[in-house]
Amino acid sequence: MDQDYLPHELKINKDLDGITKKMLDEHFKLYQGYVKKSNEIQKKIKEADKSEANASYSFIGELKRQETFSVNGMKLHEIYFGHLGGDGVPKGDLVKMIEKDFGSLDIWKEDMIVTGLCARGWAVLAYDYRDNRLHNYGADAHNIGAVWGAIPIIVLDVYEHAYFIDYGVNRKDYINSFFKNLDWDFANKIVEEYKLGK
Ligand SMILES: [Fe+2]
Repeated sequence: MDQDYLPHELKINKDLDGITKKMLDEHFKLYQGYVKKSNEIQKKIKEADKSEANASYSFIGELKRQETFSVNGMKLHEIYFGHLGGDGVPKGDLVKMIEKDFGSLDIWKEDMIVTGLCARGWAVLAYDYRDNRLHNYGADAHNIGAVWGAIPIIVLDVYEHAYFIDYGVNRKDYINSFFKNLDWDFANKIVEEYKLGK
C-alpha cells in the first residue's frame, strides 16, 4: 500500500545571520510544492494509460520525467532546510572524513564554493559508495547531475530563488552566509544514520 510523503516543518523561526526569515519562508513554499507534486505524480502514475508509453511524448512519460524532478527537489530541500539554523562550526566525524578525502577542511570548502558558483541548482557533498569517499557534486537541476548510489550530506541550494530576495545576483555572499548557518550536527546525523565511512 502506497503512503503519501509527509512534508517536513520549517524549524527556523527567526532571521539567520545573513539569511532572512522572509526569504526562507518564500523558499519553503517551493519545498512544500515539491512534496505535494511528488504525491500527486505518484498517484497519477498508477492511474495513467501505460499503453501510451513513448520516449517522444506521452502523459505517462511526462509523469515519469517529472517524478525525478519533484522527488529529488523534495529530498534535497529537506536536507537544505534541515541543516540551516546552526552555528556554522565544523565538528564531528564528518570533519575527519572531509580531511581524509579532501586534504583539509579549507580545500573542501573552497571546492564546495566553486561547485556552488558553477552549478545552476545544487552543490552537494555526498558520500559515494562506488569509491567509498566524499565528493562535491554539482547539479544543474534537481534531476540533472544526481549521482546514483551517493548519499547527500551537505546540500547547498544555488538556484536563484534561494538567494535573490536577500542578495540579488551576489551568489558568493549568499554561499558564505550558508556556511555561517550550517548545522554540522544535522550533517553528522546523516553520517551516523547511514554509517558512512565505516
Ligand atoms: Fe530551492
